[in-house]
Amino acid sequence: MSTLVVVGVQWGDEGKGKIVHLLGQQADLVVRYQGGNNAGHTVIFDGKHFVLHLIPSGILQPGKQCLIGNGVVVDPVALREEISFLESRRVRVKGRLFVSDAAHVILAYHRYLDCLREDNAGQGKIGTTRRGIGPSYSDKVGRTGIRIADYLNPDVFKTLLDRNLREKSPLLKRFGSLEQIRRDVMKKYESLRRFLAPYVTNGPLMIHGAMERKHQVLFESAQGTMLDVDFGTYPYVTSSNPVAGGVCIGSGLAPTLIDEVLGVVKAYTTRVGEGPFPTELTDNLGETLRQRGMEFGATTGRPRRCGWFDAVAVRHAVRINGARWLALTKLDVLEGVNPLRIAVAYRVKGKLIKEFPSDRQLQEQAEPVYEDLPGFEGSIRGMKHYGQLPVNARRYIERLEKLVNSKVAMVSLGRSREETIVLDSKFPWKP
Ligand code: IMP
Repeated sequence: MSTLVVVGVQWGDEGKGKIVHLLGQQADLVVRYQGGNNAGHTVIFDGKHFVLHLIPSGILQPGKQCLIGNGVVVDPVALREEISFLESRRVRVKGRLFVSDAAHVILAYHRYLDCLREDNAGQGKIGTTRRGIGPSYSDKVGRTGIRIADYLNPDVFKTLLDRNLREKSPLLKRFGSLEQIRRDVMKKYESLRRFLAPYVTNGPLMIHGAMERKHQVLFESAQGTMLDVDFGTYPYVTSSNPVAGGVCIGSGLAPTLIDEVLGVVKAYTTRVGEGPFPTELTDNLGETLRQRGMEFGATTGRPRRCGWFDAVAVRHAVRINGARWLALTKLDVLEGVNPLRIAVAYRVKGKLIKEFPSDRQLQEQAEPVYEDLPGFEGSIRGMKHYGQLPVNARRYIERLEKLVNSKVAMVSLGRSREETIVLDSKFPWKP
C-alpha cells in the first residue's frame, strides 16, 4: 500500500496531466481532491489528445478506479458532458468513476455570480475561468451550499434551491427573473439527478477500503500552490487548496497516510489570469516561450503569461507541500535560450527579500534578482537518459534542485509518455 500526491508547485498548468497519467499506471485508485471544471489536464493517450477538466486523468488507464472527492465542486452539466466525451472515444467510465456524496454542486447561478463579480471588479478583476468555482466554494463555507447528497434528494434540493435563489435574488436580477432562473435549473434537474446517482459514493469509505486492500492511491491536484487560497497570491487565487495538505480535507484520507508528495514544475513559469508574477517576460522572449510551449489555457484558451523560473516561489511551494521530489516539465522549450535566468530573491525598494512574501504590495512590487546560467543548444527531444542531456541543461536542473531544496525524479521533454527521462532516483513510483 502506498499513497502519492501529485501537486503543482507554480501557478498551475505545470503539466500534471501527463505526469499523473504516467504514474497512474501503478495506481489502483486516482483521486481528485479540489477545484472543479476550471482545470484543464491535457493527456496524449493511444495517439489521441484528451483534455480533462473534472474527471481524474486516471480514467484513461483501463481498469483504474477514479474518485472525485468531497473537496471538488461538481457542475453536473459539465460532468455529464465530460463523461459523454470520454464514452464517445471508447473510454469506459461506468463502474470506474465515483463522486463523493459530500462534494458541492455548481449550478447556473454560481456561474452567473462568477461573471457578475468579475465584470464589476474593475481593476480588482481576478481573471477567473467564470465556471462558478468561487461562488460555489463561497456557499460551501457560508453553509448554504448544496452537496451531491442534497442534490440527489428532490425535497431537500428544491428547498435549498429556493432559499439560495431568494438570498441571491438582488444580484441575479440582471440574468432574468428568479422564476426563469429556477425554471432553467429545474428543467435539467431530473435527468441530471438520474444520470448522477449511479456514480455517487461515500468518498472517505472508498479510500479507506482501498487502503485496507493495500491498494496504491494517487491524489491528483488541479491548479497549483501559488493559486492556493491560503498559500498563493491572494486574492488572485482559486477558491480551494491545491496544496498536499488539501488532500485530507478534500478526500477524507487521514493525514498520517500520505507517503510521498511529487511537485510538478515547469522549467520556466506561466500564469493565466491576473495577479502578481515577478518574473514575467513581456518582451519577445515571453512570446517565444508562449508559442514554443503552446501556452494557451486548456480550459479557456487564454494566452498564458510567461516568464523565467522563480526559485523563490517554488521553494515556498516545495516547503508547504513537503515535496521531496519534482517532475520537471517542458525543458525542451528552453532549447537555444541563452542565458537561462533564475530568480533567486526579490528586491523591493532596495530591500532584499529571500522568501515569498504574503503582503500583496510586496508581491506586486517584487523585482526579481536573477542568477544567469549558460543555455544549451540543439534539440534534446527524444533523449532517453539524463547523461545524454547537454551539460548546461544538467547544470540548470541541478541548480534548480539546490535552490528549491528538492530532488528532480523525472524530466519531461514533450507531451508523449516516451518523451520522459527518469532519473536514477529513489523515488518509489516509476513511470
Ligand atoms: P477560478 O478558479 O475560475 O475561480 O479562477 C481563479 C484563478 O485561478 C484565475 O487566475 C484562473 O486563471 C486561475 N486558474 C483556475 N484554474 C486554473 C488552471 O487549471 N490552470 C491555471 N490557472 C487556473
